[in-house]
Amino acid sequence: MKKNGFIFDLDGVIVDTAKYHYLAWKNLANKLGFEFTEEQNELFKGVSRKRCLDILLQIGGVTATQKQFDHWMGEKNKEYLQYIENMDASEILSDVPKVLHFLKEKNIQMAVGSASKNARPILEKVGLISYFNTIIDGNNVTKAKPDPEVFLLAAQELGVRPQECVVFEDAVAGIQAAKNASMTSIGIGDAKILAEANYNFRDFTEISLDFLNAVIYE
Ligand code: BG6
Ligand code: MG
Repeated sequence: MKKNGFIFDLDGVIVDTAKYHYLAWKNLANKLGFEFTEEQNELFKGVSRKRCLDILLQIGGVTATQKQFDHWMGEKNKEYLQYIENMDASEILSDVPKVLHFLKEKNIQMAVGSASKNARPILEKVGLISYFNTIIDGNNVTKAKPDPEVFLLAAQELGVRPQECVVFEDAVAGIQAAKNASMTSIGIGDAKILAEANYNFRDFTEISLDFLNAVIYE
């Protein structure tokens, strides 16, 4: 079936912000007296801020009052916002603009489907916001990936059926969300971790325009 909609996750797909999320969570963990590894951080990809703190506290064996919980969530976001404050186009992952440009020329509808509540300011800072027909982010959804809500909402806004959509994702939960939405998924990152994806690439430099054409018309 011809693919008319392409949906991009943001963190770890369009921009390398996954490292900033990790640093901010790691510093919070250290402040609370425990370690947080990059391996554990895989569980945080595609996962909402609140759910991430739930998992972090579980890892550290820390119990929190509601007030502490809200405070720590705020602290993490404050630090994250400092990291992204001066972001510019240099933080766009390699060859992402090439792919966006190619799809735009083909009149493909494009969306961002992200769990982050900071998606819009980031897209503005790096100068890519105008490529997208719609942005569905953590402010628009009630159910987190692997629930398909974010991608189904994006498809609806684009006016395309889910089966006509292709999703780029770097998170296990995101690949599962695409699958749950009956969409084609392309995993960006470690193929072993993202084994459930329909296609896998280390990054966008490995994606050829021929491949994109084949996916559109498959
Ligand atoms: C996702 C990231 O895109 O957004 C997660 O992969 C992050 O790691 C989530 O927790 C929420 O982001 P934010 O910016 O709303 O804290
Ligand atoms: Mg991501």
